[in-house]
Amino acid sequence: MSDFAVEANDIVRTFNDGDVQALKGVSLHVRRGEVFGLLGPNGSGKTTMVRILSTILSPTSGTATVDGFDVVKHPDKVRRRIGLAGQYATVDENLTGFENLRMIGSLNHLQKSFVLIRAKELLKEFGLTDAAHRNVKTYSGGMRRRLDLAAALVARPPILFLDEPTSGLDPQSRQDLWTIIEGLVEGGTTVLLTTQYLEEADRLCKQLVVLDKGTIIAQGTSQELKTRLGATVLSLSFHTTGDAARGIELIRDVSTKPANVEGTVVELTVEGGPASAAEALRRLDAADIALSGLTLREPSLDDVFLSLTGHKTEDELAPSDSETKSTRKARAG
Ligand SMILES: Nc1ncnc2c1ncn2[C@@H]1O[C@H](COP(=O)(O)OP(=O)(O)OP(=O)(O)O)[C@@H](O)[C@H]1O
Ligand SMILES: [Mg+2]
Repeated sequence: MSDFAVEANDIVRTFNDGDVQALKGVSLHVRRGEVFGLLGPNGSGKTTMVRILSTILSPTSGTATVDGFDVVKHPDKVRRRIGLAGQYATVDENLTGFENLRMIGSLNHLQKSFVLIRAKELLKEFGLTDAAHRNVKTYSGGMRRRLDLAAALVARPPILFLDEPTSGLDPQSRQDLWTIIEGLVEGGTTVLLTTQYLEEADRLCKQLVVLDKGTIIAQGTSQELKTRLGATVLSLSFHTTGDAARGIELIRDVSTKPANVEGTVVELTVEGGPASAAEALRRLDAADIALSGLTLREPSLDDVFLSLTGHKTEDELAPSDSETKSTRKARAG
């Protein structure tokens, strides 16, 4: 048996007769029992990859196996081994939580008596026992996400695909879901999840790849990515753009990475954390440049992008979504 729960080799997927290139040759290897993160901004190809691995879409070219089975040649075998919680809740709003899980059980041809026990067990595990017999319509966003995850687990799949499991959730509900996912992994489940949050990938994922416009632009552990990036982002607010311009010249070399300047705000990624901040402050103070604000924060996905590509994630949304074959040809000359 392969060491890998999920293996994808050079997956390409195009839409609209090749006009849209959602994936441009993506390979990934997910080891059994780990949480693997697919990190990327809107439109980078995360959902397309998950849909290919869960046999909903076929690749234009390239191959993928799940639990050793080819997703194109043996889709039934793959489906029996995976659970999928999609980006948009798939549970039926007009049924109760319990009814939803029972329906999933019958769609999966599972024994009724097994499903009854399993549904109760999952509702309890995910804190939904009290709401079990209420219509899902009345559930909060966090409760829906938990039910969605429960639905993906009815058949006890060894491999789980979670597409942006916590997007749109408040911090507490997000934490709750992280705890649930960690519990599943402790129990031996392999998880491939997509996220736009570096913090989430950092907390959950052993290995990650960063996608940008259908291409992997970085991979490794979260720590490796952060080390490449510089551990902390120092954000300085000046009173005027003139001060910001003078300030940046004084403190530029506190970081080995290029600074990001937006109006009166200057951001630097720094390896030294507080010590680097203190050094920057000393230099500004000596030059009599006052600040209106200062923060130190963990790097976000935006910072990773800025560091890897030289621009922030939102800068590339429009071109990537609207780029057509003809504009690509035109650019290629
Ligand atoms: N069925 C489709 N037809 C045409 N284009 C598509 C289709 N599905 C996806 N795309 C395009 O493929 C690209 C990748 O989309 P995908 O949904 O995989 O991105 P994503 O990383 O999941 O984004 P998000 O974070 O917004 O969910 C986008 O440019 C999208 O518009
Ligand atoms: Mg998506």
